[in-house]
Amino acid sequence: MHAKSIELLNRAVADELAAVHQYMFFHFHCDNQGFELLSSLYRRTAIEEMMHVERLAERILFLKGEVLLKAAHEVHAVTDVREMLAMAARMEQESARDYNLWANESGANADSATKKIFEGLVEDEERHFDQFDLETQNLGRFGDRYLALQSIERAKKSSMGPAA
Ligand SMILES: [Fe+2]
Ligand SMILES: [Fe+2]
Repeated sequence: MHAKSIELLNRAVADELAAVHQYMFFHFHCDNQGFELLSSLYRRTAIEEMMHVERLAERILFLKGEVLLKAAHEVHAVTDVREMLAMAARMEQESARDYNLWANESGANADSATKKIFEGLVEDEERHFDQFDLETQNLGRFGDRYLALQSIERAKKSSMGPAA
């Protein structure tokens, strides 16, 4: 019986769901402010986090546990792009740290399949962190011009009308 694994997997599901909601919120607000690139980055990342929920849920069911689909926290109503990136990078760092610990814990409990799932997630969360960190650096280097460029790209697209 892998009660501890089921508990850890459900904690991960809760974190992933909170990330899905938070990134969709960021996606809507970047889209609303015309920031094309950031808007699609949050959308893509939210979809990847949803696929993490799926991977975790499959393992929980395999271990004959219940999947508790409850987000770890409410959405934080952050609409400033710099604050969004800082928060997203922080969330990814925390996830990578937790999943590393939980991989080790699962290994110590002789559940190597769960360990492997957490290790796979660490790689994805580190990549997400890297993307948010890169955007933070771009914003730091190019400032508001970087955001203005995204809006211009959007304006160009919309002036061309809907894609055929
Ligand atoms: Fe994730
Ligand atoms: Fe992530």
